[in-house]
Amino acid sequence: MTDILMPTAMMPLIVERLESAATLHKLWEASDRDAEIARIAPRIVGMAVGGGHQPIDAAFMARFPNLKIVSSFGVGYDHVDAAWAGKHGIIVTNTPDVLNEEVADTALGLLLSTVRRLPQADRYLREGKWMGGAFPLSDSLRDKTMGILGLGRIGKAIARRGEACGLKIAYHGRSRQADVAYPYFDSLIEMAKAVDILMVVTPGGPATNKLVNAQVLEALGPKGVLINVARGSVVDEAALIAALKAGTIAAAGLDVFEVEPCAPGELIAMDNVVLLPHVGSASVATRRAMANLVVDNLLSHAAGKGALTPVPEARG
Ligand code: 8YV
Repeated sequence: MTDILMPTAMMPLIVERLESAATLHKLWEASDRDAEIARIAPRIVGMAVGGGHQPIDAAFMARFPNLKIVSSFGVGYDHVDAAWAGKHGIIVTNTPDVLNEEVADTALGLLLSTVRRLPQADRYLREGKWMGGAFPLSDSLRDKTMGILGLGRIGKAIARRGEACGLKIAYHGRSRQADVAYPYFDSLIEMAKAVDILMVVTPGGPATNKLVNAQVLEALGPKGVLINVARGSVVDEAALIAALKAGTIAAAGLDVFEVEPCAPGELIAMDNVVLLPHVGSASVATRRAMANLVVDNLLSHAAGKGALTPVPEARG
């Protein structure tokens, strides 16, 4: 049986499946983490890692001389140093596609919530204010354009939903896509100037760090709405807070934050933002599909059939 390391706790489905098919080492249960790593390191061939809070960096992976595959939960893998892994012959896998429609649903829900102020309307009713008068009229999606930053698989699923709501779609990314008819902007600032809604779906990591900065928010303008379902790192959060306070943009809907699991108190205090605790893919069905893919990648690799969904930088 192959030896798999799980540095931090993951979904029970992943633990159960790996326990029955492999020798699973649950590092978070060890009283002395370093001693446990020293004891098992040469045996470890694969790792199952949770998205998010624990970085799987070069220094960590280098402690396992026979590591061949890191199977990561989530489509985003900015917490794994995949470039280093690739250079050292280690495969990194993520969980693409199985979450596209779920994250796109969440993005649409967050967009509607932000523009139509649905959470605020819910609070208004619960606070007993309805009898005192109707909830104030909101902005609308009618006659609006949505600019998508990062027209990948999830971005396209969001675009389809946007079209169903009558939105005009534009996009910005590293390059124009031959098979896409939506208008392409090679400059993010120019796109922000041209659209009403900026939908952020691009991967996190150094290449996109604080891409949505004060200048982009200024370009989006006082009626502009920012939605982020990607990574907190893509938006300069301090600049966003300043822009919301000053009325540089109108509103924001955020599923992700610079430092998780929490959101800045300044955002929590604002009435023109809708905040979600990183629930983009968080349905039972989709999280199960992601969990199964984490395990299937490891088991397929262990059976000599290759990883199912390796990331481009680290295909082994
Ligand atoms: C997960 C995500 O919430 O897939 C991603 O990249 O952000 C989410 O689906 C995250 O990976 C898990 O903690």
